[in-house]
This record gives sequence, structure tokens and C-alpha cells, in this order.
Amino acid sequence: MSTTTTTTTTTSLFSSAPYIPPDAIFALTAQYNVDPSPVKVNLGQGTYRDDNGQPWVLPSVREARKAILENGLYHEYLPILGLKGLRDGVAKLIFGGGYDALAQKLATSQAVSGTGSLHLAGALIKSVTPKHLLEKRKVYIPAPTWSNHHLLFSSLGFDVVPFTYYNAHTKSLDIDSYLSALRSAEPASVFILHACAHNPTGLDPTVEQWKEIGAIVKDRGLFPVFDAAYLGFNSGDYDADAWAIRYFAAELGIECAVCASFAKNMGLYGERVGAVIIVTADGTTARNTQSVLESLQRSEISNPPAFGARIAETVLGDERLKGLWFEDLRTMSGRIAEMRRALVEGLGRYAPEHDWGHLVRQSGMFGFLGLSKEVVLALRDEYHIYMADNSRISIAGLNTGNVEYVARSIGEVLAREQ
Ligand code: LMR
Repeated sequence: MSTTTTTTTTTSLFSSAPYIPPDAIFALTAQYNVDPSPVKVNLGQGTYRDDNGQPWVLPSVREARKAILENGLYHEYLPILGLKGLRDGVAKLIFGGGYDALAQKLATSQAVSGTGSLHLAGALIKSVTPKHLLEKRKVYIPAPTWSNHHLLFSSLGFDVVPFTYYNAHTKSLDIDSYLSALRSAEPASVFILHACAHNPTGLDPTVEQWKEIGAIVKDRGLFPVFDAAYLGFNSGDYDADAWAIRYFAAELGIECAVCASFAKNMGLYGERVGAVIIVTADGTTARNTQSVLESLQRSEISNPPAFGARIAETVLGDERLKGLWFEDLRTMSGRIAEMRRALVEGLGRYAPEHDWGHLVRQSGMFGFLGLSKEVVLALRDEYHIYMADNSRISIAGLNTGNVEYVARSIGEVLAREQ
């Protein structure tokens, strides 16, 4: 009996797919999770933890969730633009006393947390940009910035241009480079601005610097996209954290996008609740713009997820729950500020020959330590302390039980580096 063998070569549609390394911050969390060390400390991903190192379900969120479950849980589709109560609630929250004057000019849509709202804003800008101008419509992002900004806007096809935001030598905001990037950009260029709690540096412009930035943005006809992931979470005062957005939109009358997320400030990390608000020139433009958002949303996710949106809508729609949430914001930001102070104090004892003044000048969830990658890796490999390669730490990962260990370990590694 003879057998015939035929060789078939399988070709795959995906044979040209490159291997893309895993996202660094998610990979770091995975590495931390499998580390069996009892002393391990996670200062990587920006997620709030209480003083026992545990995730914290906000009391306001707990109450809202209970009310929703008691009222009966529906599993119906939301409208394409999401919950109207949430969209209006977010806009009122963000613009505060300036909301009424702006209301007619707003195009709003619920979105899939911060990333989804930035994506929707980017997709909108792309869809209203004439094809022949697309190549010229650059998206400027601060250097450094949240790691997803570059990926997100380049995936949409934009030319993404980093501008210098941080002076590593002085460990401070490089306002001169920032202003000159604004001055030299083409009109209608898009600038991604962190509304507060700049990620990763923890350095925000002062009110005076925001005014300088706003004046150039207005004069040059630039389009700011506010990444507003930390409103209320930064200082514990929502109004203070929303100041720059209000100044640009209400006082300067600048068209802009606000991309809000409830991951950090309501602790709704997994529910993916967010909203994009476009401040336009007038009512007709707002109506048309919103229709484009609706069409884009339909093509991408059909309609947004409901459960977390109902929680945020319930909190924002009830004055008592909203008051409770404001207290929760003060609890979280207060604990983070306390841990920042404790770390600075500990570093002053264990690494006194180094200047830690920059940590005091920073604010919000992140501390940008200014350590070399070698030091970061030694802390990870030998001390089980996990932080991003650029030495950004999520201060929420510190607590009264580990802050001394972290400060001492940093001191030990720095001492032997000398
Ligand atoms: C972070 O910066 O750590 C967080 O915003 C989580 C993320 O998605 O990167």
C-alpha cells in the first residue's frame, strides 16, 4: 500500500502581525500579584487603597448601589449617548455655577471611562477634520504623560507630538518649553492637557501659568482636550480641581473637550464610567456635534455599559449622596497627602543627603521620585517594591504599615549606588 503525503503550507491572515510587548503598567501589576513575598508593596498602577492596603468601596457608592439593587436591576440597553441623568450630572458638576450659561453649547456623551472618552473625543476631531487636513492636525501630548495617550491618538491615525513638560534637572514643570510649544503649533492643533494631578509628574500649572496657557490657546486657536481623570480626587475639593476647565470654557470662551472618568474619584475602576463633553461655539454646533458623537458611539460600542453609570447617576442626582461623595473624596485625597508627608519624612531620615523637596511640590495620586531605572529595578528585585520604570509611585499604595519600609529601602539602595 502506498501512501501519498501532501505538504500544505498554511498561510495566516495574521502572519504579518508584529509582537507587541504587554502594557508596562498592567504587566507590573501582574508581576506584583504573583510575587509571594510577604513584604511586597505595590506602588505601580494608580488605584486607591485604604490604610490596610485594600481596595476601598466608597460609602457613597455602596449606598447608591444598594438603592439601585432595591429598585430592581434592569438589563436593558441604554440609549446610544448613555444615561441622560449622568451626562447632565457630569456637566453640572464640572462647570459648577457656569453650567447654565454653557448648557446650550454642550455636546455630551457617556463614554467608556477615561480612555473611552479620550478616544471618542479623538474620533470626533478626526471625523470633522477634512481629509486633506488630517495629516496636518497634530495631537500634542506632554512629555512625560500617561502612557496611553500616545497609543490612543496614534491608533486613531494622528501624528502625536510630545512637547517638553518636565525639567528632569530641576524636577519641576518646564513652563517655558510648554508655552513655546503652544506658540509654535499650527492653529487648530489638539493639545492634551491634564486638568489636574498631572500623571506621572504630579506637577500642575499654577493659576497664573494656566492663565498664560489659556491666553496662547485662545490667541492661536488651539483645541484643548482636558484629560479629567482626577477631579476632586486631587485636592479633595472638586471645584478647585475643575478650575482650569471652568476658566477655559466659561471665562475665556474656548471650544474644548473634557474627558471625565469616574474610575479614581468614585473608585469605579472596573465599571468603566466616563463622559465626554464638548464645549462648542453655539447651540446649533452643539446639536450637530452631539449627533456625530452618537453616530460614532453606535459604530463602536452601540451603547455604553449601564451598571456603573447608574451608580454615578444616583450619586450625582441626590444631594445627600453627593455630599457623602465629597466627604469620600476628602478621605481619599487626605490619606494620600498624609502618606506623601510620611514618605518625605522617612526619606529625610533614610536618605538625608538627597533633596526630596520636589515630592512636596507635587500633588495628587502620584509621586515622581526621580530615581534611576537601576534603583527602580533593585527596589523591585531585591525589596519587592513595585513602581513604574520612570520611578512614578502611586502614593495610595503606601500605608502606615509599609511607608517606613519603603523609605528605608530607597535609602539603602541609594546609599550603595554612591
Ligand atoms: C495609571 O496611570 O496607573 C492608571 O491610570 C491605570 C492605567 O490605566 O494606566
